[in-house]
Amino acid sequence: MNTNRRIFIQSLSAGLLGSIIGSSKSAAAEAKHIPAYSSTTAEQYWDIIRTQYPLLHVPVYFNTGGLGPIPQCVTDAVISTNSRLQEHCETGHVLFEPARKDLAQFLGVASHEISFVRNATEANSIIAAGLRLKAGDEVIFDSHAHPGGSHPWLIQAKQAGVVIKVFEPDASSPESNVERIQSLLTVKTKVIQVSHITCTTGLIMPVKSIAQLANNRGIWFHIDGAQAVGMIPLNISELGCDSYAVSGHKWLGGPNETGILYIKHRNLEKIAMVEAGSYSGSVKRLPGELILEPSTMRHEYGTRNAGLVVGLQRAVLFQNQIGRDRIANRGKELATILLDSFAKFKDIKILTPLDSQMRGSITTIQHPRATAEGFFDYLHKKKKLRCRLVSEQGLRALRISTHILNSSEECERLIAGVQASLKDL
Ligand SMILES: Cc1ncc(COP(=O)(O)O)c(C=O)c1O
Repeated sequence: MNTNRRIFIQSLSAGLLGSIIGSSKSAAAEAKHIPAYSSTTAEQYWDIIRTQYPLLHVPVYFNTGGLGPIPQCVTDAVISTNSRLQEHCETGHVLFEPARKDLAQFLGVASHEISFVRNATEANSIIAAGLRLKAGDEVIFDSHAHPGGSHPWLIQAKQAGVVIKVFEPDASSPESNVERIQSLLTVKTKVIQVSHITCTTGLIMPVKSIAQLANNRGIWFHIDGAQAVGMIPLNISELGCDSYAVSGHKWLGGPNETGILYIKHRNLEKIAMVEAGSYSGSVKRLPGELILEPSTMRHEYGTRNAGLVVGLQRAVLFQNQIGRDRIANRGKELATILLDSFAKFKDIKILTPLDSQMRGSITTIQHPRATAEGFFDYLHKKKKLRCRLVSEQGLRALRISTHILNSSEECERLIAGVQASLKDL
């Protein structure tokens, strides 16, 4: 962006920022009262958290890994921000910086290392296209990658001749996943990418060990964290990755069409620009050289929906208010209730790792006879329990996400539904 234009917009926006932030219903949109955890019983506390969500109670929702329900305070922040912006007919771009600060702090990175993108798929795509690999260069990723993680590379295979190698995630131990990656390495390996938590079985990858493997060999390490951020506490800077993709609209409870791309600052120039426009850089006068923003923000461009960004900011403040460890522990506690019960049904196969350090708030099971569709439909239509079927890689399974809006009573209903399916299907 032209410097004069930037200064003009900044000064215009400064007043606007005051007016919008001053409004009681913007980023600061209050959640309904959340009591101190210690002042109630745990179940009462989680019941109060549940009242923050407009989500209906029927069917019972166990698909946060697909699309996360949004607390009312987040929806309020989106609506009120956009309403206020309409009063001025402004883009609200100035609201991005305070939001960036909160998001960066939440993710454990510097503000200049992140970019607001539309979803994790877009973040993955910027990395896959931006690394500009050549024919014969090799990329390793997990065979359980979501299409949002695999397709950006399959496009590179199709268009640039990049060679894809996949490894099957192994539920037996963290080390064996590192070994599987190691066994695929060659001198042509340029990128390792993993799902931080797989979307299929909820397996948590040993990302720090994989980072070491990649860093020692100068291989780019990208993490698709769509299932991780908001489910487990994490500090991206400590993981040792070069880049990381975040989805805002799953475990974080942010508005649909929100995501974050992190690129480690010292690697910024290694990612070529895929798209550019206002905010990604500036040029004094045309024709002239485009000076790119010296930050990951360069990957943002053009007019955006500031309400969504403020909504995402509100979502992380909501999570902070509850506490990230508490959120992770609650989801896992409910998943453990499921896991322990399913373990007693001898016909149900559990695909999620049993090793506690390799699992979080996702539980994936296989019915002895039913197809994934049949199992899913039975629970959804007959028992009013909304899970997610897993048909990827022929897994024929059912995925259950347990998050802060779920209760132990709902888990008992699910267990009863699965038990009934063993007779009915
Ligand atoms: C591991 C993983 N990556 C990427 C995606 C796509 O996410 P988004 O909708 O944010 O692009 C998903 C969605 O389920 C996922 O589980």
